[in-house]
Amino acid sequence: MARLKSKWICRECGYESSGYLGKCPDCSGWSTLIEEIPAKHNPITFHNSLNYSTPQLLKDVSLDAKVRYTTGMAELDAVLGGGLVKGSLVLVGGDPGIGKSTLTLQTCGKLAQKGLKSLYISAEESEKQVKLRANRLNIDFDNLYIQPETNIEDIKRGIDAISPEVVIIDSIQAVYTPGITSSPGSVSQVRECCSALMALAKTSGVTMVIIGHVTKDGMIAGPKVLEHMVDTVLYFEGDRYKSYRLLRSIKNRFGGTNDIGVFKMEDSGLAEVKNPSMLFLSERGNTAIPGSVVIASSEGTRPLLVEIQALVGPTSYPSPRRVATGIEYNRVLQILAVLEKRVGLNLSKQDVYVNAVGGIDIQEPSADLGIALAVATCARNVRVAPDTVIIGEVGLSGEVRTISHLVARINEAKKLGFKKALIPQSNLPVKNPPENIEIVGVLRLIDAISNAVQDS
Ligand code: TYD
Ligand code: MG
Repeated sequence: MARLKSKWICRECGYESSGYLGKCPDCSGWSTLIEEIPAKHNPITFHNSLNYSTPQLLKDVSLDAKVRYTTGMAELDAVLGGGLVKGSLVLVGGDPGIGKSTLTLQTCGKLAQKGLKSLYISAEESEKQVKLRANRLNIDFDNLYIQPETNIEDIKRGIDAISPEVVIIDSIQAVYTPGITSSPGSVSQVRECCSALMALAKTSGVTMVIIGHVTKDGMIAGPKVLEHMVDTVLYFEGDRYKSYRLLRSIKNRFGGTNDIGVFKMEDSGLAEVKNPSMLFLSERGNTAIPGSVVIASSEGTRPLLVEIQALVGPTSYPSPRRVATGIEYNRVLQILAVLEKRVGLNLSKQDVYVNAVGGIDIQEPSADLGIALAVATCARNVRVAPDTVIIGEVGLSGEVRTISHLVARINEAKKLGFKKALIPQSNLPVKNPPENIEIVGVLRLIDAISNAVQDS
């Protein structure tokens, strides 16, 4: 038999190449391509199948309301768009040790309380380890089954044996199908197993939750290679050295995306955080400090107040350092360029460090104005009043641009005792503005700086 030709697959994004490449042309990752021998596939033959879906008119498709299992954890239900949809497949990705197993086991406990049968397939830990964790989490054992298994065929047998409503696979990288020669965790194993589970979810109506570790190196495929095939993709993020965690939805066929849920990791598991802005600002004092401002980011539809800190100082390097934590690096460079050109701030001999406090990742342009003000106030050693919130996107010509969800952001700031909101002038007039908070519109970045800086 002719040897099957191997191919090189990027473990980050799934890009395929016939030979080795040091850098992936698709996702620009270095050393991410790994060699795989493809499984032997039979060519497609068209034959008469009795079990096929016939074409029907779109207008005849019945729109029965989807059955959703609410988990009782409001933060999780909101991120899922109202609960787990029956027969759907949800992928939960995140760094190892962030709390994925804890979240899913707690979810099983909540479902069990409602009388739903769930099956926890533990492909990494023994049943005793899972029971110890379940004891620690104080969860309801009735209706919760455990199967330590890695072979996908035996997993299917387990599902057939007890017909659960919800199945958790922890983790997809440890599951394998004997039909493929490559090792568990390789791109082809992970994809093949995921598509088999997807087909099972669709045909049997079982809801599947699949856990995928985000991998930085090694030969393991990350959850990114599965994103296109699943119904919902959630990422569990956070700073491992801090206790809170963010659950972010980046794809949802049954609800909105970009919503976030906030949890706190405690000794007895994950607790929901109802007022995340308070948590993010909890370590901030009431005195104004140069380089510190508060922005109102909007993650999905949910407003979130976050402190932005900047530190600007003379460099001792031939070219000055630029460091951004929790904010996109290129975005910071762009804002620094605008500050130099449009405001006249000379940063060419200054190191600049910018940090979104609390380990949160700010992905939204409305943070621009806050970042610019943090840098400008630190560089000029002036202060923004601590009860002022800064909202706005900054354009290349130094203009402050319109942003969305403005009223929700201002309301959140007012709830936390802020007295003034600096917003883009183009967002004025604000419809139904909250009372007792001064709203000031600014046209250009330079006006924003003079307006926000406290007289002292
Ligand atoms: P885990 O859910 O095992 O992470 P993952 O499945 O994403 O790899 O959680 C790992 C961390 O969470 C571990 O370091 C211990 C901590 N933890 C708590 O702080 N409290 C708890 O109740 C539990 C179960 C875990
Ligand atoms: Mg785990």
